[in-house]
Amino acid sequence: MLLAQVSDLHVCAPGRTLGGGVDTPAMARACVQALLALRPAPQALLLSGDLVDAGGPAEYAHLQRLLQPLPWPLYPVAGNHDERGALREAFGARMGPHSALMPDFLQYAADLGPLRLLVLDTVVPQRPHGALCARRLAWLGERLREDDRPVLIALHHPPFATGIAHMDAMGLLEGAEALEDLVRRHPRVQALLCGHVHRSIQTRFGGAVASVCPSPAHQIALNLLGQGEDGFTLEPPGFQLHLWHAQRLVSHTVPIGDHGGTRPFA
Ligand SMILES: [Fe+2]
Ligand SMILES: [Fe+2]
Repeated sequence: MLLAQVSDLHVCAPGRTLGGGVDTPAMARACVQALLALRPAPQALLLSGDLVDAGGPAEYAHLQRLLQPLPWPLYPVAGNHDERGALREAFGARMGPHSALMPDFLQYAADLGPLRLLVLDTVVPQRPHGALCARRLAWLGERLREDDRPVLIALHHPPFATGIAHMDAMGLLEGAEALEDLVRRHPRVQALLCGHVHRSIQTRFGGAVASVCPSPAHQIALNLLGQGEDGFTLEPPGFQLHLWHAQRLVSHTVPIGDHGGTRPFA
């Protein structure tokens, strides 16, 4: 099983760019081309939140057009820049086969063959930070008890502090400890796949791997422990590939752009 993860596209309406001149639609187009060029091709695509920048219907319509060439089942996650209702409506028929969809949160389960994907919704409307309330955690507990396949959990806000203070201040501020307890009690959880921080970051969480995927657009500047400046950078954009291979999840970060292709060893 090969799952691609793209996070934080921040697509804006046609003819616009983000503040600072970041042309997110053009960068999304480059990402789609890079995904289509992959051999082997992924079998599904996880979109781990902040799919658009301001959450309006024109942005979601634009996102749909940009993603249209991708032939795989799409699994969207709500981020703080998304509008949950508009996101659900925009993806409707385009969402991969799923079950157990919560009526008022974008939480659902998906069958990835040997793996199960459980998508969590950490959105607090109109706020940048994330939360998992008792209902959303109870849903996860039920899903973890009903099937014994290895599990991937997807959520936008990383449930751990990254060391980048201004992002940690808008991290998963409610429910992270309870989530870690649940993960610890269910060792079949292989990984928690997150977005929000626009960099490749990994740690251990409840005995599983927790990781953040870089953005195909702008990256968050590496300001560790306050020894740098807050802001974004135009470091190489990227996405991740998660390969279920030899009973393990192996994750690769792939930079987007023309780097000259593969050259033979001398
Ligand atoms: Fe983002
Ligand atoms: Fe975010």
